[in-house]
Amino acid sequence: MSTSSAAPTLHASTWDVECIRADFPTLNQQVHGHPLAYLDNGATTQKPQVVIDTLTRYYQNDNANVHRGVHLLAERATRDYEAAREQVRRFINAASTREIIFVRGTTEAINLVASSFGQRLQAGDEIILTAMEHHANIVPWQLLRERTGVVLRFIPITPQGELELERLPELFNARTRLLACTHVSNALGTINPVEAIIAQAKAYNVPVLLDGAQATPHLRVDVQALDCDFYCFSGHKVFGPTGIGVLYGRETLLESMPPYQGGGDMIRTVSLEKSTFAGLPYKFEAGTPNIGGVIGLGAALAYVMALDGEAVERYEQQLLAYATARLQEVPGLSIIGQAANKVSLVAFVMEDVHPHDLGTILDHEGLAVRGGHHCAMPIMSYYGVPATTRASMAFYNRPDEIDRLFEGLLKARKLLS
Ligand code: ALA
Repeated sequence: MSTSSAAPTLHASTWDVECIRADFPTLNQQVHGHPLAYLDNGATTQKPQVVIDTLTRYYQNDNANVHRGVHLLAERATRDYEAAREQVRRFINAASTREIIFVRGTTEAINLVASSFGQRLQAGDEIILTAMEHHANIVPWQLLRERTGVVLRFIPITPQGELELERLPELFNARTRLLACTHVSNALGTINPVEAIIAQAKAYNVPVLLDGAQATPHLRVDVQALDCDFYCFSGHKVFGPTGIGVLYGRETLLESMPPYQGGGDMIRTVSLEKSTFAGLPYKFEAGTPNIGGVIGLGAALAYVMALDGEAVERYEQQLLAYATARLQEVPGLSIIGQAANKVSLVAFVMEDVHPHDLGTILDHEGLAVRGGHHCAMPIMSYYGVPATTRASMAFYNRPDEIDRLFEGLLKARKLLS
């Protein structure tokens, strides 16, 4: 079953949220006696029926290993796996499928770069990060620092939750080897001005890695227009399956990098003395990959690309404005992250109420939100809070779900404070 035959639903440019919701079966259920309001899309997004059907069809009809067998099932699996790679290429407008590496998720993509690109770095070489990164874009570099003695520098953030870009020029020097930055903050919702950051990095001839995990569900991404060197994202955050993600890398850079893991499929020849490696992208895909996940991701991206991107962004910005205004009416609530340019995500703290207690009360109202440090402990430290509550919205959320969140917060406040 080819991914391209799994026709995504087409929607009119005026946003028809009920039509969209009908594509997502998980949304249509009761939780603790209330209709589910799923506001935890930053953690993972729900899957459209076309993705569920694609996974089922793959496992029912075509299940076989890729790039190995000559039998029909193996040919079908390989064809659909490679068709999904082409779908990913189109999704981020990469120049070639040789630049699309399948990995488990954004975390593995960044670890791959830290490990492979990092091998050429030496003590005293420098990497610029930001103070608003997810742990996935901090810890791999700290591990690299322990191995090699590289120096990590950080672009600071402002109380609004924006990067202090005027501080960026002073962070570059002749030893700067990479700048790795999130496109959108998972804890604050900030959309970073990555074009300006990349332009500065290019002036110093420094390659740029973007963590796109929270950007791809909301924004259209064009890696050629951005002129970034690496771009990473996770399938499950963009309406696809878990356990599958993408590393985009500029071909010349990937060519120059050593393999990340060794094993089957990434080799050209193996003898007991030495091995030679396959060309791109297979050099970085050791072992049997997550074939079903890749094919499911292809279906998810086809679904997203069939939507009107401008209508999605407009609708989500309306949801964000509405949620921000409503939550500001809640007594004792402070929004954490008030950047001028945000995706549809509102994080907040409530006086005298712990986010975990709040999350439990809201769950009993059928409202799914996330409470915690959001794998961004440096951001929590910056704001002097142990945790926040986060309502993260997708194009299938509705304003009445925000109203229910507002009511739930008032109820929680009454119960807990
Ligand atoms: N990184 C995911 C989040 O922000 C899990 O919730």
